[in-house]
Amino acid sequence: MSFDEKLTKTLEALGAKDEASVRALFNEVWDALENEKRTLVSTPAANDADRMERAKALRDRWLSRRNGLLAQVDEHWLKPASRELKPIVGREFNQLRQLAKGLEVEELIKSVRVESGSAVVGRDLNDREGLGAGKGKGITQAVEAMSLDPTLPGNRRSLGSIHPITRVQREIEEIFITLGFWIESGPEIESVYYNFDALNIPESHPARDDWDTFYIDPQTVLRTHTSPVQIHAMKKYGAPLHILIPGKCYRRDNPDATHSPMFHQIEGMAIDQNVTFADLKGTLVFFAKRFFGDKTRTSFHPSFFPFTEPSGEVAVSCPICDGQGCRTCKQSGWIEVMGCGMVHPEVLRHGGIDPDRYSGWAFGLGVERYAMMKYGIHDIQLFYQSDLRFLEQF
Ligand code: DAH
Repeated sequence: MSFDEKLTKTLEALGAKDEASVRALFNEVWDALENEKRTLVSTPAANDADRMERAKALRDRWLSRRNGLLAQVDEHWLKPASRELKPIVGREFNQLRQLAKGLEVEELIKSVRVESGSAVVGRDLNDREGLGAGKGKGITQAVEAMSLDPTLPGNRRSLGSIHPITRVQREIEEIFITLGFWIESGPEIESVYYNFDALNIPESHPARDDWDTFYIDPQTVLRTHTSPVQIHAMKKYGAPLHILIPGKCYRRDNPDATHSPMFHQIEGMAIDQNVTFADLKGTLVFFAKRFFGDKTRTSFHPSFFPFTEPSGEVAVSCPICDGQGCRTCKQSGWIEVMGCGMVHPEVLRHGGIDPDRYSGWAFGLGVERYAMMKYGIHDIQLFYQSDLRFLEQF
């Protein structure tokens, strides 16, 4: 007897006298409903009209008020059920009605569109549980109750990226690491002695004005450069020494397109026996070519820093216009990229190193300027505004 036929008979006539046999009958109906729905959704519709027609036919077969299959369950199974069986039949019937909600035309249309193109959702979930046909109704029901659509895209977590300053800092570190330098760091809150005196900038010296800055108390200052870490490192390691010191620095500068009260420097220092200006030049020329490109020309000018003697400034041929003159190099063809020099004997002494045995060179550069040149950025403030439209480009 087909299940349709069974729906025209009462439970009594079918010999269903206990809970188990009632359930078995409902399972049969349940399976039939799922199968018919599955057949509909897994057979691609020819066109929208065809899909609509088939969806309607299936809906009417089950849900039509007058003689739909559910109406028959109600009429022949539920209504005439015995007093003991009624609650059980009622519960099963309710579950079936829940499942049948998926046959409402709008619902069906949705699933035809979704399921005809991809895996059949209800079936997958049931199979995953390893349940036989019909026994997975709890899951199918749960899925339908949630109106879960597993074909929707998931929640994508947005990926962060490395800040351009950090990126450039790491690139510079990399170049010096291959030359045998190691990375050192020091405090951002620094004593006046380390920030100035130990670097041969006495209190009375006018050079101190250049770095006169944020004092925490008369003896403590936010460091104005990474140079004080030279002294810390010399005291800590002695000679020979090859270090690179990246870090934040602070100056009493008003923010504008090229200034910021907080910025980043990288300091380099090499101390050994018989180190000369030729070592300094060779290393910095190599670095400039590595960072700015092989075609880069380098030029050294005399300059003054209290902590080096002699002191120099390094300029590179403008990597944007290749020295032709452009906005970035202010039409000069050259861009200043760092200060450098031979470490002053007084500074070596402050670091506990004998200037008669050892000599050294040092340099200091501003990371922001390198990042601005590398990426063609004309406003330093962009680095600090945390604007994702800017940061996402790196
Ligand atoms: N400390 C200097 C500044 O902030 C930069 C500098 C110049 C560092 C020459 C050095 C150096 O080590 O040798 O302007």
